[in-house]
Amino acid sequence: MQNFNLPALGGGAGLRHEHFDEILAAKPPFKWFEIISDDFMDFGGYSRDRLMQIREHYQIISHGVCLAIGSTDPLDREYLRRMKKFCREIGSPWTSDHLCFTKVDHTNMLDLMPLPFTRETVKHVVERVRVVQQELELPFLLENITRYVTVSDREMSEAEFISEIVTQSGCGLLLDVTNAHLNSQFHGHDAWQFVSSLPLERIGQIHLAGWEAAEDGSFIDSHDAPVPPEVWELFKRVISKTGPTSVLVEWDNLLPPVSRLLDETQMADRVIASHAAQVAA
Ligand SMILES: [Fe+2]
Repeated sequence: MQNFNLPALGGGAGLRHEHFDEILAAKPPFKWFEIISDDFMDFGGYSRDRLMQIREHYQIISHGVCLAIGSTDPLDREYLRRMKKFCREIGSPWTSDHLCFTKVDHTNMLDLMPLPFTRETVKHVVERVRVVQQELELPFLLENITRYVTVSDREMSEAEFISEIVTQSGCGLLLDVTNAHLNSQFHGHDAWQFVSSLPLERIGQIHLAGWEAAEDGSFIDSHDAPVPPEVWELFKRVISKTGPTSVLVEWDNLLPPVSRLLDETQMADRVIASHAAQVAA
């Protein structure tokens, strides 16, 4: 298996409302866009109409934030049905969400909270991912999150935790290279050792993003800056192992001009062209 048997779309970008008009008017040469499906799936109106117009010109990929795969609340099957319908409407060949919990007692905390790396959590998440895949009838990927804290109740490393969940459940991995780098800084481990311990053949998509450096020297995973050099370097090493894949530049705040966003996606394509060749060689 390579790229979780998904099409390798190359460099793409997060599609945000602020760029809709310019993209529809100028049709810049993006290869694909990712959208936050929760922003659209339950709404009609102007934004939804514009999205469907953009969908006529570009491949759109769904990415969710509200599944709460690690929560102990029951899985929201109605949410899954709405997600499935929406993915079909936009023609998304796969979808993804985050390996975390977001809900406690039916309250959405609007943040991605880290799970304890225990066998009990693995079992819990694996059972839920199997249901998600059955309901969606689409390839499903889980994304590694940024962890600002270490959950003390742990029986394995983060890489072991992720690997067990994706291999036991049969889902794919959305590798956020920025999150892998930031976690290595926060928790004092080697980012490449983390990445190379994962089942790389299950990576079906990659995220790259920039961050905000706080005054005290720490970092905030803010998605409001260009992809930094250390992330590009880690990305090159990943691509040299995985081969071509679908690589998304995430930019959610302090949005740049469309042309700047396009530059970043084309940088990702150049890395794929120069480094993925090593896989075939
Ligand atoms: Fe991400």
